Amino acid sequence: MDLAYAAEWANLLIRWLHVITGIAWIGASFYFIALDNSLERPKDGDPLVRGEQWSLHGGGFYYKKKFVSAPPAMPEKLHWFKWEAYWTWISGFSLFALIYWGQASTYLVDPDVLDLPVWAAILLSLVMIVAGWVAYDRLCKSKLGESEGKLLAAGFGFLVVVTLIATHLFSGRGAFLLVGVITGTIMVANVAMAIIPGQRKMVAAIAAGREPDPAWGAVGKQRSVHNTYLTLPVVFLMLSPHYPMLYQHHLNWLVLLILAVAGALVRQFFVLRHSGRSNWALPAGGAVAIALLVVLLLPRPDARLAGVAVPTLTEAHAIVATHCVQCHAARPTFEGIASAPKGVVLETPAQLRRWAASVRQQVQTEAMPPGNITEITEEERLKIIAWVAAGAR
Ligand code: HEC
Repeated sequence: MDLAYAAEWANLLIRWLHVITGIAWIGASFYFIALDNSLERPKDGDPLVRGEQWSLHGGGFYYKKKFVSAPPAMPEKLHWFKWEAYWTWISGFSLFALIYWGQASTYLVDPDVLDLPVWAAILLSLVMIVAGWVAYDRLCKSKLGESEGKLLAAGFGFLVVVTLIATHLFSGRGAFLLVGVITGTIMVANVAMAIIPGQRKMVAAIAAGREPDPAWGAVGKQRSVHNTYLTLPVVFLMLSPHYPMLYQHHLNWLVLLILAVAGALVRQFFVLRHSGRSNWALPAGGAVAIALLVVLLLPRPDARLAGVAVPTLTEAHAIVATHCVQCHAARPTFEGIASAPKGVVLETPAQLRRWAASVRQQVQTEAMPPGNITEITEEERLKIIAWVAAGAR
């Protein structure tokens, strides 16, 4: 079987799995944060119980209790939440490897940013993923970890550094996704290396009739809170490959940081809201940040277009035929591409007209050709832009 064809199937099936496990994980995580924040004092005054909640879902009444540290006796059956997180990472990492390492010269390396050999780009991205977790974990365990405010400041500083490094090493698209992978890895490692081990110790202590150390639960809580704030930024980063206007911008690192902060602010609003406090300044801050970006990214009339003669359809198509149809054909000739990407076929002038608006967007942001692999010139780009701007005729 053709390798590119097999890769296309792997891409679909792994992505499907990734989205589903991600929904299961984040859904459960949102649910428990909301539950925790909306608990009420137990009506019967049970000193072992921190809070309780009545709820209604799917036609049934539910009654939940959270214990201060542990129940008096171990229940026979205890449900753990971990495989959702683990499978989200396993599928996500596989997808990253399949696309960004498997086709690194297309997706990860951009010679206009840095002309890295493929092996170096792969190695550097792997080092960043591992080092990201190690550095974050150290930060949480250091003195800074004792103060939430200081840890928050340090965590943001850490994100700034990682973003600056990634956007100066890799293609915009690769950098955005890699920052997403680093953050997502931290979230899953929080589950695997901090939350679950703490819970195992708690369960073992209770089984042995000892009082569990409250510090184990506190670490779990700290990491679980971090995960909640990272969720919206990570989901944005995972969606970002659809938006070259963001990752291709020359200040793409700033764009990434602004959207990450906007996401965290919105999440903070919902966390507070579950405990009955609504701080509207938070989503307002997020909205202002996004409005700022809308202005920052506003397409300006391109002064370079002034001297460009509008080409005819035949001339415009000749450029596309030279630089795009290797991939954008019913039967692509470019190695590793099995079918026309996103269904965009540009083999005939009529097809070019059909896709004119997207073609302009991709050519203007320099998202296409990927990593300028077919070496389109500045002059040719301007001709395409001028042709679409003049009505694509
Ligand atoms: C090396 C192969 C390759 C070349 C050459 C190439 N493209 Fe693409 N193109 C792709 C891939 C892969 C995607 C899908 C990207 C993704 O997964 O988001 C794509 C996507 C697109 C899209 C759809 C974007 C979207 O998300 O809706 C357009 C439009 C496009 N390319 C236009 C062009 C134009 C115009 C050229 C030539 C100037 C070009 N491409 C050259 C591989 C290529």
